[in-house]
Amino acid sequence: MATLDDVRASCENCQKCALGATRTNLVFGVGNGEARLMFVGEAPGEQEDLTGVPFVGKAGQLLDKFLFAVDIPREDVYIANILKCRPPKNRDPLPEEEDACIGYLREQVKAIRPKIIVCLGRISAMRLIKPDFKITAEHGKWFQKGEYLMTAVYHPAALLRDPRKKEDMMEDMKEIKRKLDEGSDRT
Ligand code: URA
Repeated sequence: MATLDDVRASCENCQKCALGATRTNLVFGVGNGEARLMFVGEAPGEQEDLTGVPFVGKAGQLLDKFLFAVDIPREDVYIANILKCRPPKNRDPLPEEEDACIGYLREQVKAIRPKIIVCLGRISAMRLIKPDFKITAEHGKWFQKGEYLMTAVYHPAALLRDPRKKEDMMEDMKEIKRKLDEGSDRT
């Protein structure tokens, strides 16, 4: 069984798709390698490409606020993306880029074995939960996929564009915290 360090080493110099040629840094993932809660976004943006760390830009700062609001310490969670490299001008990932990259995420998930996986936004939910996932209708719904409990919430960048969605996000995050604490002696 590959450890998280093994998986990181395996993708460090990845050139499986064209994004390998344009990245500044590969953005592997950040957080607790034994997290019970894992978030999966779409792809690195500019700040993430520059730093090599996921969700450090404006969207990430908003995610931090929601985590704080529901009393989930950021250092308890693990955060990664479907793609490990930034698409030019933050365009949506291409299917062939997702196909090339998704194996790394699967290995990451297997190494961490979280209880709950939360997709951040439509692109992640369509890839990890079901291809026809509708984020407006289905955010906050729960899906048992193998050993993982999965849900999706609005992407924080969508909340920046439309702050009216923040109320729904808050409700979804409260429920995530509740499920995380369910049947657990860890806080
Ligand atoms: N948006 C994402 O989906 N992922 C990041 O890491 C940053 C912004």
